[in-house]
Amino acid sequence: MTISYYYNNLTQIEFGPGSRRTIADKIKTLGGSKAMVVTDKGVSEAGLLEMVLPGIREAGLDCLTFDGVKQDPSTEVIGEIFELFKSSNADILVAVGGGSSIDAAKGVSLLTANPGPLRQYGGVGKVGAKGRPLIAVPTTAGTGSEVTLFAVLSDLAADLKFTVTSTHVAPDVAVLDPELTLTLPPSLTASTGLDAITHAVEAFTSRISQPITDALALESLRLFYRWLPVAVNSGQNLEARTMVLQAELMAGIAFNNAFLGLCHAIASPLGAHFHVPHGLANAIMLPYVMEYNYPAAAEKYARLADVFGRVPKGDIYQRAKDAVGAMSNFVVLCGLPRKLRDVNAKKELLDKVAEDALLSVQLKFNCRKASVKDIRQILETAF
Ligand SMILES: [Fe+2]
Repeated sequence: MTISYYYNNLTQIEFGPGSRRTIADKIKTLGGSKAMVVTDKGVSEAGLLEMVLPGIREAGLDCLTFDGVKQDPSTEVIGEIFELFKSSNADILVAVGGGSSIDAAKGVSLLTANPGPLRQYGGVGKVGAKGRPLIAVPTTAGTGSEVTLFAVLSDLAADLKFTVTSTHVAPDVAVLDPELTLTLPPSLTASTGLDAITHAVEAFTSRISQPITDALALESLRLFYRWLPVAVNSGQNLEARTMVLQAELMAGIAFNNAFLGLCHAIASPLGAHFHVPHGLANAIMLPYVMEYNYPAAAEKYARLADVFGRVPKGDIYQRAKDAVGAMSNFVVLCGLPRKLRDVNAKKELLDKVAEDALLSVQLKFNCRKASVKDIRQILETAF
C-alpha cells in the first residue's frame, strides 16, 4: 500500500494557561506597533478584554478595540472595521473571540492587501496577496478558525453566506489560553464543543483523510469524550477547559487539511434559514448524518465507537453502528437537543434546506454520496 497526501499548518501555535501574556511579544515579532483588537460585545461584557489588553499596553504598544462583531460577520461590518484600521494607522490585527470575530479579522486583513468588494474572494484560492498580520485568540473551543484557511462571511444584501478559502487568510499566530474559556456558559460550551467534534468526525471519515489528520482527529475525539461533559458541568475546571481547547485545536488542524462532509453541508442552510447557531445545528444533525454514513466507512466508524467507550461486539458493521448510538447519547449527555423541531426549524422549508445543502462544496468530501432525496430523508428523521 502506498500513501500520498498534502498537509499544511500555516499558523504558529502558542498554547497553555496564561499564554495570553505572550501576545505583546508576538505583535512585536510580527513587526506590529499599533494593534487593532477585533471582538464582540459578549467578550467585552464578560471582562475578557481586561485579561488581554493590559499586557499589550504594558509592553509599550498602542492598541484600539472594535467590539461590534456579530454572529456570521457581514461584509458591511468588515468594511467598517477596515476603515477604522486605516484611519487609526493600526498595523496588526488581534482577534479575540469565537469564530465570528476571527473570521471578521481575516476579512479585514484580506482588505489591507486586496481591493474590495470582499464578495469576489468567495471560493478557493482567489486572494492574491497576504495582508497585515493576524493573531487569533479564541475564547470558545469550537470553530478552529484560529488555525484554518477559511473565513465564513455573510453578504447581507444578497442574503447568503460565502467562504473565503485561501492560505492568505490563515492567522499568523494562534494564542490558545484555556483561562479565557473559563466563563463560557454550559450551553455554549456544549454546542461549540459539538461543532469541533463534528470537525473531527468529518475529517476522520473524509474522502481525503490522511495519517496525520486521522491521528489528530482521533485524539481530539478521545479528549472530547473524556472532558467535554466535565467542562459543560463544571466550567471553572481548568484541566477540563485545557483538554477541551486542546481537542478543539486538533480538530481544527485536522479539518483544515481533510475538510468536512454532509453534516456541515446541512448545518450551513439550517443556520441561514432558521438562524440556528452553527454548533447547535451540527450537534443535532451529527448522529443522523452518522447513521446515514456508517456503512460507507465501517472500519473508521468502528474506531470512533472504540474512542467513545463502546466495547467491541459483533461484526464490523455492528461495531460501526455503535458509534452512532454513542454519539446520540453523548449529545444528550451534554444537555443539547436532539431534534430540529426543538430549535424552531420549519418543516415546510426542509426541501429548501436539502437543495441548499446539495450545493455545498463539503459534500465532495463526505464518505458516502448523497442525493437531494437522501438529504431530505435525513432531515425528516432529524425533525
Ligand atoms: Fe463547524
